[in-house]
Amino acid sequence: MNIKDKLIIALDYSNMEDAKNIVEVLGDTVSFYKVGLELFLNSKGTMVDYLTEKGKKVFLDLKFHDIPNTTTMASLFAARQNVFMFNVHASGGRAMMESVAKKVKEVNPEILSIAVTILTSFSEEGLKETFQSQLSLKDLALNLAKLTKTAGMDGIVCSPWEAKAIKELCGEDFKTVCPGVRPKWSVADDQERIMTPKDAILNGCDYLVVGRPITKNENPVEAAKSVLAEIEEGVKALCC
Ligand code: C5P
Repeated sequence: MNIKDKLIIALDYSNMEDAKNIVEVLGDTVSFYKVGLELFLNSKGTMVDYLTEKGKKVFLDLKFHDIPNTTTMASLFAARQNVFMFNVHASGGRAMMESVAKKVKEVNPEILSIAVTILTSFSEEGLKETFQSQLSLKDLALNLAKLTKTAGMDGIVCSPWEAKAIKELCGEDFKTVCPGVRPKWSVADDQERIMTPKDAILNGCDYLVVGRPITKNENPVEAAKSVLAEIEEGVKALCC
């Protein structure tokens, strides 16, 4: 895999002009962008077309969560938009994920169907209060990862600190998409459990989601190149 395809730039913007501006600045340095709810809604969906027309890969991070039929119909929209990957909430359950995984592959065999297990904003207490489950946050997340795998989905979003355990549980081919990545030269911002790009690769992350260290940097191109160089170091250390 091309090293560039492992770095997903988070486009956390509320207007399309700012988002387009950073895409222009980064140019050919990066090839993969994440569009979340904020930008998708503010651009009325057109940011996805803008990126695909530029030949960029898109992670459509809209976290679908509904009954199987509705989630599948929303996922088919993603498949037809030619995005590279999109996601749903694993807590939508097996029937929902089985339907999504099967139907989107019929429309777009290359697309990666990813699930979110437990939102990282949950604390142990918040989780217990919401779901009344006796399982720990970690065990609940691992259980949802296993369910995601057996439902035929392609991978999950997880912390770099969990990627190794996920791979052991679900297999090497099960994709891990990891935010919470920070190079040593960068501040943590509001991320709590961070890991450097090289360590994230060494710990089983397939795709690294990085936003502010690159998009808010005074030299975004140099910042992206530096992250890519670290990813390459990690990949080389893994394979040799
Ligand atoms: O700027 P930063 O590198 O922290 O951006 C990380 C991106 O990954 C943001 O879009 C954030 O919403 C997303 N994300 C995250 N943690 C999760 C899931 C998604 O930081 N557990």
